[in-house]
Amino acid sequence: MPKPWEIFDKKIAIDVIKEIQGIIPQCWLFGGTLLGIIRDKKLLPWDTDVDLGIDSKYITPEVIEKLKSSDFKITYISTFSNTKLNEYIPEYKNKYSKIICKKKKVKIEICCFAQGLPLPERKDQDLLYYFSGTSRVFVLPKTSVYPTIKFRVGENVFNIAKNYEQQLAFVYGEDWKIMKPKWYFTADHYLCRERTIIELGNDDKSKWSKWYGRRVIEKIHGPQNFPESINAPHFLNKYKQKMKSVAENFWKEQLVYPQFGTIKQRRLYELKYLVPKLSGETLLDLGCGDGSLLNCLLELTDFKKYYGFDFSKNLLKNLNPKIKGQVFNVYDKRFSEIPKVDNIICGGMIGYIFEDEIIEDMLKNLKTKKLFLRTPCTLKSEDDYVNTYSKKLQSNYSSKYRTVSNVLKLIEKNFIIESIDRVYPDNIESEFDTKQFYFCARSKR
Ligand SMILES: C[S@@+](CC[C@H](N)C(=O)[O-])C[C@H]1O[C@@H](n2cnc3c(N)ncnc32)[C@H](O)[C@@H]1O
Repeated sequence: MPKPWEIFDKKIAIDVIKEIQGIIPQCWLFGGTLLGIIRDKKLLPWDTDVDLGIDSKYITPEVIEKLKSSDFKITYISTFSNTKLNEYIPEYKNKYSKIICKKKKVKIEICCFAQGLPLPERKDQDLLYYFSGTSRVFVLPKTSVYPTIKFRVGENVFNIAKNYEQQLAFVYGEDWKIMKPKWYFTADHYLCRERTIIELGNDDKSKWSKWYGRRVIEKIHGPQNFPESINAPHFLNKYKQKMKSVAENFWKEQLVYPQFGTIKQRRLYELKYLVPKLSGETLLDLGCGDGSLLNCLLELTDFKKYYGFDFSKNLLKNLNPKIKGQVFNVYDKRFSEIPKVDNIICGGMIGYIFEDEIIEDMLKNLKTKKLFLRTPCTLKSEDDYVNTYSKKLQSNYSSKYRTVSNVLKLIEKNFIIESIDRVYPDNIESEFDTKQFYFCARSKR
């Protein structure tokens, strides 16, 4: 039995491309077809079809009729019909998004691109979107497609993007000139899809989904912090739900406080930092864990009342009986149960609350003169996530690391910031791109 790429006659395919370019002059070489023509000056030996791109507005019922009357057999048509596309390309609902046709056993995929809205994280970039009818959409920067030029290879002339190098680097990675056997089945390929594909949701099992891809990448390259920038919001929400339950399970299952590296040395720095700043008569530790900090503060300070709140019953059992402990889950939003106090310490907890709105809601409802909030912040430019199996902790683990400025934004709505400090010296800090910061603030009320 001949292999599909053996049946695909490359010489006939070139003639068919030229014929289509005659019927639809606005289409340009795309995908593997562009890669082959640019890099190898011929179609890739293992290719089984031709990929063409076009602005969707040029594909009309009349054009399809023209193709048919030129003996192209139309085998597939899709439109921008998925309602989830509305948030990216609101105006293209009934326009064509993909046509597959065949002539002389050559299969041609015409990928119809629509200009859509810029992604929130890439506001400066005009994007073209292509929807093949599955639950994901493919993006290309507009500058990597337009304007197009005529490109000669031997006696053949093709339409391609003037910035074809930018397009190939975007789709295949900066090293697109290097030939990679079986590329489609490699982690490299999925890494490229991190950039080019937006998942529309409802599908994390298919071979081409980002989630399948991420598993392939992690298997080969180990745990990764994936960017959230190009994920569809609904998909990210689903991911957040998963992280939320991983974090919840992790903390609720701890019988004793997990020994995070240099925790005991850190405690000394924390106490030295905090004790001189505390004042008044009452103190609450929100997300107090096993009360290690509170138990020390009980010895070092003279407050009339100490409270410790946490959602882990097991950890709360270690609180000194003089401290009033309470099981409390921030996600339940029962904020009226939090007593009015002079000081609230909230150390290391907000990283397990994945939605900013919940933290904002919590901060809005705190009745305290002073807030001392400690959290590990990422030093990267965007909030970061970890969601992986931790060998050290022997458990699945997930957390969100916000940037300093994003934490600031959350606090500033209801508090006046007095200081932001790093509390631990580098030698007892995290080895990753995060550092612990203390945000000290006083209530606006
Ligand atoms: C990193 S520990 C910090 C504990 C303590 N503040 C300290 O500095 O040792 C985070 C704490 O947040 C608590 N936590 C996480 N998510 C929570 C939630 N949704 N509601 C209440 N507590 C939560 C965990 O049980 C854990 O004790």
